Amino acid sequence: MNPQDVQGWVSDAAQAFAQADNLDSLKVARLAHVGDKAPISLASRALGSLSPDEKASAGKIIGEAKAEIGRLLADATARLEAERDARVLIEEVVDITLPVQRAHRGGLHPITIIKNEVSDFFIEQGFSVEEGPELESGWLNFDALNIPADHPARTMQDTFYIEPIESGMVLRTQTSPVQIRTMLSQQPPIYVISPGRTFRADELDATHSPVFHQVEGLVVDKGITMAHLKGTLDNFARHMFGDDVTTRLRPSFFPFTEPSAEVDIFFNGRWIEWGGCGMVNPKVLATCGIDTSIFSGFAFGMGLERTLMVRHGITDMHDIVEGDLRFTRQFGVGL
Ligand code: FA5
Ligand code: MG
Repeated sequence: MNPQDVQGWVSDAAQAFAQADNLDSLKVARLAHVGDKAPISLASRALGSLSPDEKASAGKIIGEAKAEIGRLLADATARLEAERDARVLIEEVVDITLPVQRAHRGGLHPITIIKNEVSDFFIEQGFSVEEGPELESGWLNFDALNIPADHPARTMQDTFYIEPIESGMVLRTQTSPVQIRTMLSQQPPIYVISPGRTFRADELDATHSPVFHQVEGLVVDKGITMAHLKGTLDNFARHMFGDDVTTRLRPSFFPFTEPSAEVDIFFNGRWIEWGGCGMVNPKVLATCGIDTSIFSGFAFGMGLERTLMVRHGITDMHDIVEGDLRFTRQFGVGL
């Protein structure tokens, strides 16, 4: 073995490593100059067939050459890794000053907000919240509420009936069936409110929607009078519209309350109908198995869209139902 040859392998390797301009080409150079088939590796393996004397001197030369090639490879690797790291830092840089594409998390609709507000107000006073189904039996929506079969509210005009008609199911036209559900399943004292979605075959116009929301209130206890109803409505109105609001009860008729009244509020200089109310008709209490010689009650039902419109001066129902974010954002919703 010629020491000149060995020196040649070392300088070949040095040149190949120096020419490698990335880690991939360095890998090719490494296989060629230190891999199994590289001249230095073959020479190293051939040492075994030499005489002891030759082996000692050749082994020293080859050992030193291998160590040198190893150092050159390590240097080249370090150089190319540093280059790659520097390049990645530049190529993958993120400009944190660019405008972001905001992902909107969504928010509550104003009707949901006011519904929660009403619920919180009554929960603070010890009421519980009851929810009934939107698909309701005609018996609970009408009959049990003393709305006879020939009552105008039962005609196809006002009510969405569910096929097959014989099922007797309707989309509830009011939250009042929840009164019945509550009285059938709970004994007095009963203090509940029931906000929820209601449906009527009304055209969508400035003040009506076929899908709208009501909140029902029901109290059944010993010695409940109209004064309790008036006081509760006054507090409720003040909470929703501010301390300056005035309420009045105007005689009216609902089959399930006796006497019945419309609740009007004086707001922004005029009287506005807010909802219906009255003392629960003893016939309805009896239907639900409540002893009318011991208990009496009151009930009320307000439109939530109406409440929102009056309070915020909204003049068109379309704004509430159309889901335009420009409307919703005005209620401070994070959209
Ligand atoms: C009722 O629905 C009775 N259940 C209220 C009641 C409850 C009376 C308990 C006595 C005791 P009325 O049909 O008037 O009553 O509806 C009540 C309110 O719902 C109305 O004042 C109005 O604010 C709202 N409302 C009715 N129809 C619509 C509609 N199509 N779109 C929006 N709001 C409506
Ligand atoms: Mg009415």
